[in-house]
Amino acid sequence: MINKEKLSKEEVIEKIISKKEFSQLPLADVELVYSKFDSEDLLVEEKIKLTREMLMKMYTVFVSEKLLNIKDNDSSWFLKKHSSTRERFGFEDSVYHRCLEGLGGRLNVYDLGCGVNGFSYDSFLGVGFEVKYFGFEAVGQLVDLQNNWFEKEKKDAECFHGSLFDLEGVKKLLTLGGGKRVVFLFKTLDSLEMLKRNYSKELLKEIVPLVDRVVVSWATKSLGAGKQIFANKKWLKEFIEENFKVIDEFEFGVEKYLVFGREGKHL
Ligand SMILES: C[S@@+](CC[C@H](N)C(=O)[O-])C[C@H]1O[C@@H](n2cnc3c(N)ncnc32)[C@H](O)[C@@H]1O
Repeated sequence: MINKEKLSKEEVIEKIISKKEFSQLPLADVELVYSKFDSEDLLVEEKIKLTREMLMKMYTVFVSEKLLNIKDNDSSWFLKKHSSTRERFGFEDSVYHRCLEGLGGRLNVYDLGCGVNGFSYDSFLGVGFEVKYFGFEAVGQLVDLQNNWFEKEKKDAECFHGSLFDLEGVKKLLTLGGGKRVVFLFKTLDSLEMLKRNYSKELLKEIVPLVDRVVVSWATKSLGAGKQIFANKKWLKEFIEENFKVIDEFEFGVEKYLVFGREGKHL
């Protein structure tokens, strides 16, 4: 048991991130999640437990432990060790072809909450697109893994460590690179909604005007159980249809994709 009188907030946060899987999350995010449970009615150990449970659901439930303990392997090994890319494995060429269809020249892809999706970089080239890839991810270990591989394999790609709750940081990222700008938000909005309801809408309102195209995706089936959940995302589709211009909608495997841009800019 931890004596709550003896732990300052900083010490509690330190305790929370002493678990390896949370050790490289943006500190501001850990504090934000902790603040949800920082109530007089809870013991410190309960607050720690609840914070860790939520951090796990938002950031690390998708990751195989092996990913946090390895430096080097081939790209398909990495793609199969994260549930999101494993579920998309084999469909990447078709997905990228459809997401980028109609766009020519040099493209910047900003993959927000990328997990390990940077390891699918060759699929862009496979379907004929010249892409500079910018990954953005909260789990620091995944950022390092991708940057090591990009450097070793000489990919035109970089991964940045940060939080999607840091709107200014995201907007700054979107100024990098030249050419047309495409944002991917693949299976990421649910994590944001867990902590801040309707934050997806705020984020989209800020970033859509800055780029040429956005693609959001969501899982049509839950992790593992095979049960149909989040199947239609009615609230999200309605918001996008009301505020932006929908270009395409399609499904591959257990993932649904919506491609859209700002009104009046139909690329
Ligand atoms: C379900 S996974 C999807 C990964 C990837 N987009 C894909 O589809 O292959 C969600 C990812 O978003 C990241 N994430 C969640 N909340 C985030 C935040 N606030 N800032 C940055 N990344 C976040 C998680 O760490 C996780 O890697």
